[in-house]
Order: sequence, then C-alpha cells, then structure tokens
Amino acid sequence: MFVSSVRLVHFRSYRESSVSFTSGLNVIVGENASGKTNLLEGAFFALRATSPRTRREDKLVTWGEGFARAVVELGGARSSTDGAHTVEVGYVPGQGKRVRIDGAEVASLDELRRRTQVFIFVPESLLLIKGSPARRRAHLDAFVAALDPGYEGALQEMNVALRQRNAQLTRVREGAAAATLDPWDVQLVRTAIALADRRRGAVARLSAHFERVACHLAPEGAHWKVTLVSQLDEIGNDAEAYAAALRARRGRDMQRGLTLVGPHRDDIVFAETGEAAAGGEPPAADVDLAVDLAADPPPGGRDLRLYGSQGEQRTAVLALLLAEQAYAREETGELGTLFLDDVMSELDDARRRRLVEMLMSSGQAIVTTTNRHYFTGDELAAATVVELPLTAATAGPGDAADG
Ligand SMILES: Nc1ncnc2c1ncn2[C@@H]1O[C@H](COP(=O)(O)OP(=O)(O)O)[C@@H](O)[C@H]1O
Ligand SMILES: [Mg+2]
Repeated sequence: MFVSSVRLVHFRSYRESSVSFTSGLNVIVGENASGKTNLLEGAFFALRATSPRTRREDKLVTWGEGFARAVVELGGARSSTDGAHTVEVGYVPGQGKRVRIDGAEVASLDELRRRTQVFIFVPESLLLIKGSPARRRAHLDAFVAALDPGYEGALQEMNVALRQRNAQLTRVREGAAAATLDPWDVQLVRTAIALADRRRGAVARLSAHFERVACHLAPEGAHWKVTLVSQLDEIGNDAEAYAAALRARRGRDMQRGLTLVGPHRDDIVFAETGEAAAGGEPPAADVDLAVDLAADPPPGGRDLRLYGSQGEQRTAVLALLLAEQAYAREETGELGTLFLDDVMSELDDARRRRLVEMLMSSGQAIVTTTNRHYFTGDELAAATVVELPLTAATAGPGDAADG
C-alpha cells in the first residue's frame, strides 16, 4: 500500500488542503515556513494518530479552530482501486481522537499499524540519538512489536513481572519477609530472558540492514553499526546468572523500590568503526554522560551520540529508518512509506545521489526540500513534484466542520 493522497483540515497551517502522491518518489519543494513539515506530520497523524513532533496535540489544531482532521487515502500496490482504503483521524482538544477506517470508527490503529509500514524523519527525530535510552528502547520496541505479535506479548509479560517485583520490593522494605520476593524473581527472570532473546535477534537483523544502508550514507571510509547494549550480556546472559544478579542486588533494589538490572535498562548504540576509529583512541567520555550505561564507547567504536557531528547523527537516524523499512519489507512483503523532512541538506552531493537511488528502488518516499537542486533533472523528471504553498487548484473541496 502507498499513500495516494493526504487531506488536512484545520491541521497546523493547513485550513483545508489536499495533496496527491504517487507510489514512488515524491518531492515536496517549499521555502521555510511554507508547511513542509506540517504536511508530513499531518500524513503521519492520519496513519498513526500520533505526532512525531509533539505530545501536546492541541498544538496540531490551526490557531483559533476547534478541531483538526487528517485523512489519508491508501492505494493498492499497483495503484489499482482494489486495496484502496481511507483512514481518518479527527481530533477535538479536550475530547480526544476519533479514528475511522473506510468510514467505520475503530478503537485503535493497531490493525493499521500492522498493515501499513510508515517511517518518518522530522527534526525532532534526532532525539533518537541524543535523547534517553528509554526513548531508543521505546522506538525499537514499537518497531519490532508492530511486526511481531510475539514480541509485543513478551514485552508486556516482562513489564507486568517487573511492576509486580517492584511493588513487592516496597512491601519487603516495609517489613514483609525477603523470601516473598523469590517467586517474583523467578517470574521476572523467565520473562526477561524471553524478551532479551527476541530483542537480541531483532537488533541483529536491524543491524545488518543498518550497516548496509549506512555504508552508502556515512562519510567516506567510516563504517557505522548499531548494537544492543544490555546488562544481561554483561552478566552472562542466562537465567541463572540473571537470578544471581537480582539476588545480589536485592538490598539496593529494595532501597530504591526499583529493579535496577534487566532488559528494561537496555540501550542501543550507534557507533562508528573503521578508519577514523582505528586511527586513535576516542576521547574520554564526558563525565556527566559517563554515568549512563551507553556512554562507554563500545570496543572498537566511536559512539555517535557522544562524538558524532549533528550531520552524522541525523544521517545515522536516516539510515536507521531505511534499515527499518528494509527489515519490515523482508518481514511483511509491504514496501512501506518513508516521510523524510529536509534530509538532503546534511548530505554531500555523492551521498544525495545514493540516497535518491535507494529511495527510487524501494517503496514510496515523500521527501521535503527547500532546494529542488538537491535533485538532478532526471530524478525530478521521474518523481512527483509538489510545490508549496499549494495553489487553489491543488486544494480540495469544502468540508463540513464536524471534527
Ligand atoms: N497550530 C498552528 N496553527 C497555525 N499555524 C501553525 C500552527 N502550528 C504551526 N503553524 C505555522 O506553520 C508554519 C511552519 O510550517 P512548517 O511545516 O514547520 O514549515 P516548513 O517545514 O516548510 O519550514 C509556521 O508559519 C507556523 O507558524
Ligand atoms: Mg520544516
């Protein structure tokens, strides 16, 4: 499936507009503040009922209006009308969201999440590298869970076990016998090891795609990889070792009322290996960041979070999304849609050509730019080009304001 059109009503700077797309490369050209990011955000909001930029959803509503609506038409793989669907998310501040698929209201977009593969890069996506381990974990978990219901189940089971153990830690601190923790330890160990196995497998697959994609986009001579950093790996990665680690740390866990060791502390690290890293020792880790598990540069690698330039960090996130798209395609057969906001400006010309080549040979890509010359004449001729601001001719018909 691909996004064949997007209609936004009272969404950010769009009062009422529609844009059509094709299944290959789409280039949105517009000056600063012409609504490029808003358009991608709106399309993503229709497909996922969440903004990649903010949790403050009231910001999405056009100033002075009472509701926002985003509608996406999905076309079939061969742009036939069969397989066509309409997805609509309406939002009224204070009342929440309503999701409709083909006109029928649905409770959630979980079903759609499994059927459509969409990946978005907006400036805020940089937080995937710069932000907390929790953010990276959440991103990884959401990605894998959408492809694998077994992963979702394993994650939920571990979270339940973790909450129960944490609650019991507090009870023990308040006087219950320490032995009452034993059954919760057993349950946490079982569910944690099950999740850790799945997560390790998923990151290994993702990493293989990431290395291949990054090879085209990283600076000359650099090799980038993404690795899982897990306390479980450090303590030997089996049930007995984890159980022993939990027992050894009971006192500290009790004081905090929190379980301090386990896959719920995992992180993923984007690292550079190769010429640059082999040439010399990476500088000492920043003291503030060194308290964090992931701050230690992995052996033979330079953590892009600590030592990467902003351009490298953005490129690493872009490579991650392309890797996710390839992984999802392998898993589901769906080509997927990439929404890429202003990624060309960070790349040099050779890498722009490689990126466009990759985009043209994969699924649908909707890419924004301030400068059409980041694309060659041939690339533009093969792409669908949308110019912002939209003219009256591209704007859709009037719309009743019922949210
Ligand atoms: N809720 C809103 N209502 C109306 N306009 C908004 C809203 N949120 C953002 N904008 C406007 O959208 C414009 C920026 O759009 P954006 O998509 O970020 O531009 P671009 O990505 O092309 O630089 C700004 O002029 C901003 O004031
Ligand atoms: Mg923008």
